[in-house]
Amino acid sequence: MKSYKIALIKGDGIGPEIIDEAVKVLDAVASCCELTFSYEEALMGGCAYDFSGDPLPQETINISLNSDAVLFGAIGGTKWDNLPREKRPESGLLRFRKELGVYANLRPAVVYDELVNASSLKPNIVKGVDLMVVRELIGGIYFGEPKGRTQDKGWNTMVYTRDEIVRIAHQAFKIAMTRSKKVCSIDKANVLDVSQLWRDVVTEIAEQYPEVELSHMYVDNAAMQLIRDPKQFDVMLTGNIFGDILSDEASMLSGSIGLLPSASIGAKIGVYEPIHGSAPDIAGQGIANPIATIASASMMLRYAFGEIIAANKIDDAIKRALSEGYRTQDLAQFDAKEVCSTSEMGSIIANYIAR
Ligand code: IPM
Ligand code: MG
Repeated sequence: MKSYKIALIKGDGIGPEIIDEAVKVLDAVASCCELTFSYEEALMGGCAYDFSGDPLPQETINISLNSDAVLFGAIGGTKWDNLPREKRPESGLLRFRKELGVYANLRPAVVYDELVNASSLKPNIVKGVDLMVVRELIGGIYFGEPKGRTQDKGWNTMVYTRDEIVRIAHQAFKIAMTRSKKVCSIDKANVLDVSQLWRDVVTEIAEQYPEVELSHMYVDNAAMQLIRDPKQFDVMLTGNIFGDILSDEASMLSGSIGLLPSASIGAKIGVYEPIHGSAPDIAGQGIANPIATIASASMMLRYAFGEIIAANKIDDAIKRALSEGYRTQDLAQFDAKEVCSTSEMGSIIANYIAR
């Protein structure tokens, strides 16, 4: 029996509710696939600040690095918005990604057939969409120096080095090799020097992957193409801030941001989390959609543990719950046979796995 140690970071807002459902589903998959999971909880975000004065306590980094993977809920909330920047939950998250070295953020956007009507785009545009945003996560304008703020001036710097671009480009090409073998690299090379370097390096690395078709697109055009004809994309390779924006945009193809998982990987350990935030406005009401987090747990099984059968079981159970017409609030208007709570959705998915 294989056993894995998972660090659980529930975070703020709806984080605890959705992580609880993912754990329920993991436990169901454990008993049917002969796996054992042990969990260790760690604090991060606003709750960690409230508890210790630091949104990212050192203990959380230690627990994470001593685990086989991290399953992460969501952090942040208006309550902490007025703290000095380094005390804010978001700063904790950025430091966390940096400390763990998770430079590659994989954000798949898949449209479930059952939910083609849920997208704000026409069904024929979104039906069959299956793309992956590969976002560089620990560089670019989020981390570049110099940065600063005076009363009347604020500045940040977008910096990428060759090495940073090389490693994320390899990830994108490797992922493309397991998919439809197309990479579209997104930049703003018509204006930014950092983007011209990005484009040159990605083009160089592409030579090592002759089977993969590489194209380049300016980010403004990509934002437009993503809603004009999303099926043209397989892997979208981007830097940190462009990927942040485009992955939120891509999430709407699927109808709800509550559906989309992510994996952040690096040399040491992976962090698996839904792409949505902590939604403080609906926290504690039992209406959050746990599917993005459950699908993140599936990505953890697939990418961190290589437990493909177990991961497929989760993905199939999610599809089944949707095709049987179970919907959380966010998707209640779209062909729902039954509207269910956060924990009911978790139980339905867990039960399909057990059977
Ligand atoms: C995300 C989020 C974060 C980011 C925030 C919360 C710091 O929007 O994971 O996409 O900008 O990376
Ligand atoms: Mg974001």
